[in-house]
Amino acid sequence: MKTTRKGFITQGIYAGMVLTGITALISACGGITRASLRDNENNVPGDILTPDKAEILRLASLAPSGHNSQPWKIKALSPEELILCADHSRRLPAVDPENRELLLSLGAFLENLSIAAGSLGYAADIRITARTPQDTEIARITLRRETARPYPPERLSRRSTVKQGFLDRELSGGDVRYLSESLPGHCVYFPKGSQHARCISEGTAEAFRAQAMRDDAQRELVQWLRLSGDHARCRMDGLTTEGMGMTGIKGWAVRTFMDPEDFLTPANRQRGIDMTARLTSEGAGWIVITGYPGGVAGLIETGRRFQRMALLARERMIAIHPMTQMLEEPSGRQFLAANHRGDVDPQFILRVGYLERYPDPASLRRPVSWFVERG
Ligand SMILES: Cc1cc2nc3c(=O)[nH]c(=O)nc-3n(C[C@H](O)[C@H](O)[C@H](O)COP(=O)(O)O)c2cc1C
Repeated sequence: MKTTRKGFITQGIYAGMVLTGITALISACGGITRASLRDNENNVPGDILTPDKAEILRLASLAPSGHNSQPWKIKALSPEELILCADHSRRLPAVDPENRELLLSLGAFLENLSIAAGSLGYAADIRITARTPQDTEIARITLRRETARPYPPERLSRRSTVKQGFLDRELSGGDVRYLSESLPGHCVYFPKGSQHARCISEGTAEAFRAQAMRDDAQRELVQWLRLSGDHARCRMDGLTTEGMGMTGIKGWAVRTFMDPEDFLTPANRQRGIDMTARLTSEGAGWIVITGYPGGVAGLIETGRRFQRMALLARERMIAIHPMTQMLEEPSGRQFLAANHRGDVDPQFILRVGYLERYPDPASLRRPVSWFVERG
């Protein structure tokens, strides 16, 4: 069918209006993100902490944690003397019964704290005091005035866990060396297509399937879902649609038509299994981080170094997606043990890949005043 010039212009205007409408609809569909809550975040307890110390703790709390559970609590003995505690009400007993991931997350928190302190003109002396993974008190921290180290704090705010949009390209040798810098001898990259990468992809998909069938693990996950804006706003933790990478209309549909409990239906479990199986074959391959010795202190050290690597990865446009199910499921651990020497101690299994564009961090954080109390 032929189109006249007038018809062409009219159709163009209609098409423009429809497109603008769709774009407006999609942006109106946006769920709650960290950016939409900035004011709330700076809710500082002025009588316990000076503003710069509160800022150090805010930046520390941008650390990653399993299910975004944020298992940290700070007791402030004075503005300079802090105790980091594990908040055991935020444990994940079904997937992390021994607090392994909890301690890795606290390690990431301490690394952020140390970097943030340095960039704001403090040295953070950190002494690990926990002796068992069940201890509540984890570390004593003293902040001393020191010349500021030139580390842009925005780097801490920019990091996020990304799960989608990985490019199908191996990591360059230079980038692998750059990422391994903070974990010499404890970090191995398995490029996509290698025998080892295939094994990890299959093992991860299988362990995810086993976990999706485990009711206690799925009920625990549901407890950390924050689908409605109100729920998210009142908890400021856990997994929002945006935090899980469900953006635009997909996120809107999940927020509007689903309750957290719907994630338990067999059909939705199967959807998760299929999606994970697809994700495991996307990207540049896998990085496995092995643990540092020393029990609790070793796990904290591993979490600190993992965080250092995650911050470096962000600067090179490399996405990091922890996929921990193989370490959480007995069948996954047996599979690993059967195929490795006994002294190989994997603590993180990370899917990695370059991104065209790094999304703005979306996962929520509790304001500092929610996790700090007078000691
Ligand atoms: C110890 C640990 C284990 C994690 N395991 C997983 C996982 O199995 N699957 C996943 O999608 N994300 C995992 N994550 C990422 C968290 O879900 C993420 O850090 C959290 O939602 C906060 O988001 P952010 O990292 O973007 O700030 C893990 C993070 C940590 C620290």
